Amino acid sequence: MTSQFSKKSEAWSARFSEPVSDLVKRYTASVFFDNRMASVDIQGSLAHAEMLQAQNIITAQDYADIQRGMAQISAEIVSGKFEWLLDLEDVHLNIEKRLTELVGDAGKRLHTGRSRNDQVATDIRLYMRSAIDNIIDLIGAFRLSLLDLAEKHSDTILPGFTHMQVAQPITFGHHILAYVEMFGRDAERMVDCRKRVNRLPLGAAALAGTTFPIDRQRVARTLGFDDVCHNSLDAVSDRDFAIEFCAAASLVMTHISRMSEELIIWMSPRVGFIDIADRFCTGSSIMPQKKNPDVPELARGKTGRVNGNLIALLTLMKGQPLAYNKDNQEDKEPLFDTVDTLIDTLRIFADMATGISVKPEAMRAAALQGYATATDLADYLVKKGLPFRDAHEAVALAVRTCVDKACDLSDMSLAELQAFSSLIEADVFEVLTLEGSVAARDHVGGTAPNQVRLAIARLRTQLTK
Ligand code: ARG
Repeated sequence: MTSQFSKKSEAWSARFSEPVSDLVKRYTASVFFDNRMASVDIQGSLAHAEMLQAQNIITAQDYADIQRGMAQISAEIVSGKFEWLLDLEDVHLNIEKRLTELVGDAGKRLHTGRSRNDQVATDIRLYMRSAIDNIIDLIGAFRLSLLDLAEKHSDTILPGFTHMQVAQPITFGHHILAYVEMFGRDAERMVDCRKRVNRLPLGAAALAGTTFPIDRQRVARTLGFDDVCHNSLDAVSDRDFAIEFCAAASLVMTHISRMSEELIIWMSPRVGFIDIADRFCTGSSIMPQKKNPDVPELARGKTGRVNGNLIALLTLMKGQPLAYNKDNQEDKEPLFDTVDTLIDTLRIFADMATGISVKPEAMRAAALQGYATATDLADYLVKKGLPFRDAHEAVALAVRTCVDKACDLSDMSLAELQAFSSLIEADVFEVLTLEGSVAARDHVGGTAPNQVRLAIARLRTQLTK
């Protein structure tokens, strides 16, 4: 009996008595977005075929034919000659059909002991593994370029804020290192997520496993997976690893978005702490004077879509009974969009960090307003024996007087200051300087230029080893 497979376009069509409508075809097809997994699909198929012949399920000739066919298909895809057909639904069926055209029966034997359910789960994991590796590298490169920026400004002083109110002086290097820490944890999360991505679903077949004497460990080794998925139902149905990746990606974007928000504020002419190189900004079509920080604004906006993708995947998963359901085909676009957005954003930000020029005078002028060294004065009194709460009150009164007189704490004379506490002596003025204030916070995690330099050295060793 001749197989229907060669006559009809759909691999499953023999069971059906009427064709699906064009609309349903378009609705159910994924080929125009899942074809980005073509190379991993071929990689997975070759590993499967290699195992099938090692287990004597197909012949060495079949395997050789499959290899030859896949080599040609790869070349066709790379050169753009491969014809992707909507009729063939997805990347898997498109490639399998072409393989059969090229090598005949060996192509039809490839799917022995396999289902598209374990095939697609394998493809996604292979695709994600390399995306994660790429993202980890890009986070590393971004952190290195932030380290360069921090290093240039280990001594540059700006006001640190809480509640958007001037709090205490800090060094710009220290501020940037806060982000280096955040992106460091983001990279750790990616590394951790990779462990759970890197398991082999193949062998689960449709959902229950297969009757053929397969060797799953062999396929896992060939494909560089750490282990196999140990339950066939779980292997084909759960996408928790993709959700986890999207959650990690959302956190990267959240950190990027916070940084963007600061860059935008700092670049506002009202603040004027930094300038961002022209190549990351655009002008206005009506207001000739404008230079807008488009890249940080867009990154802040794109954080919304990456968060949306996470919610899409969580929602996709929550109502699915075991095992595979076609709902899972909807995992790809949010996932791919997340990968694309993250990769572009990280690349642009690594470059943009080199295009940030800092205006230390503006930062310093801002730090001199708002009584940023008031805490230093309180600490000074405590060191002279006053309980902290009393010191806090004495300084609060001093600040109130300064506000009335529109002057800084350091503008008052020694006699004026002594009115608030007799413990105040001439050495107080050193404490009230911005440099004295930051230099005094000289412990691990503190803002002192000295600590910033130590932190940079430690991070650089971590990042370059
Ligand atoms: N395109 C499908 C997906 O992305 C492949 C698996 C199809 N399996 C099936 N039983 N219809 O999930």
